[in-house]
Amino acid sequence: MPDLIKRRESFQRTLLGWYRSHARALPWRESPSLYKTVVSEFMLQQTQVKTVLPYFARWLAALPDFAALAAAPEARVLKLWEGLGYYSRARNLHKLAQAVAALSTPPQTPAAWHELPGVGPYTAAAITSISFGAPAAVVDGNVVRILARLTADGREFKDGTTAVKAFTPTADALLPAANPGDHNQAMMELGATVCLRQNPLCALCPVADFCAARRTGDPEHYPRLAPKKIEQVAVTRVWCEQSGRLLLHRADGRARRLAHQHELPTAEQLGLTEAAARRGPLLACKKRSITRYRITESIHRLATPPATLPAGLLWAPLAKLDAYTLSGPHRRWITEIAADRRQRQ
Ligand code: ADE
Repeated sequence: MPDLIKRRESFQRTLLGWYRSHARALPWRESPSLYKTVVSEFMLQQTQVKTVLPYFARWLAALPDFAALAAAPEARVLKLWEGLGYYSRARNLHKLAQAVAALSTPPQTPAAWHELPGVGPYTAAAITSISFGAPAAVVDGNVVRILARLTADGREFKDGTTAVKAFTPTADALLPAANPGDHNQAMMELGATVCLRQNPLCALCPVADFCAARRTGDPEHYPRLAPKKIEQVAVTRVWCEQSGRLLLHRADGRARRLAHQHELPTAEQLGLTEAAARRGPLLACKKRSITRYRITESIHRLATPPATLPAGLLWAPLAKLDAYTLSGPHRRWITEIAADRRQRQ
């Protein structure tokens, strides 16, 4: 049996003691409820705590429980989510609330939660361990990092999913029967505040005594993940303004990342070739990264709109853009370009 597992009771006690005295005061941890836990776990998928905080507060004020969320129109739900990205999370959370509100009691096991929209193994384990004390360990990139370091596991994993699978048995073996929710949150807390990917704060680490990587002197070496293939992508977008209205594209409801979000249309959405769209003056060039893609988006002015608008395109009054759900970057770009154009007029 690995040394860490042999010493697990001591490890659990040390970690929990640290968590109880050092945990950040987060709003979903104060007078916790199932609803707060579910909303926070959905918001925290792929998103950092500091980004989530203002959204969580606004959400709880507007939609305080499953019944309120279940009864809300989808447009309101998406508007409250605007800027957090990955909008399928909001639509799934909405559907989940409708399913939970229709039950006399909410499900309590990870397997039952896994059946609900938008709930993967991590979220199912987080929700049920925190809310019902279910014996389910959370494993994500942060937990993988902690476990790879504790055990100085030098294997190279081809991707994050493979690493999560490889470390799940260790995470399960370390989970205490009492307070699995606090243990899981303590692991999350350790990963977010101490066992950092770069420059881990080993001197402050409550479980440094248990850490094999620390003894090697190079904790950053763990875990080893195969380098991601970075892909460069160029996107041409169009700024077409007429009588105080701006041409926007509204994504289909089935789109995973952008469902029902409005964005500046691409050349393709307008039925234009890239070359034709690029003939107009360049208004802005923006770079961003989404997962392994490095995207360069150039926004060109289009003087004459198409005679008939292709599906998904619409005119939005510039003065009323607040009423439209725009993805975070597009709201910034549009505000910037509109201000710039007003100045030049
Ligand atoms: N990340 C995912 N779930 C979390 C939680 N409950 N607390 C802090 N960070 C988290």
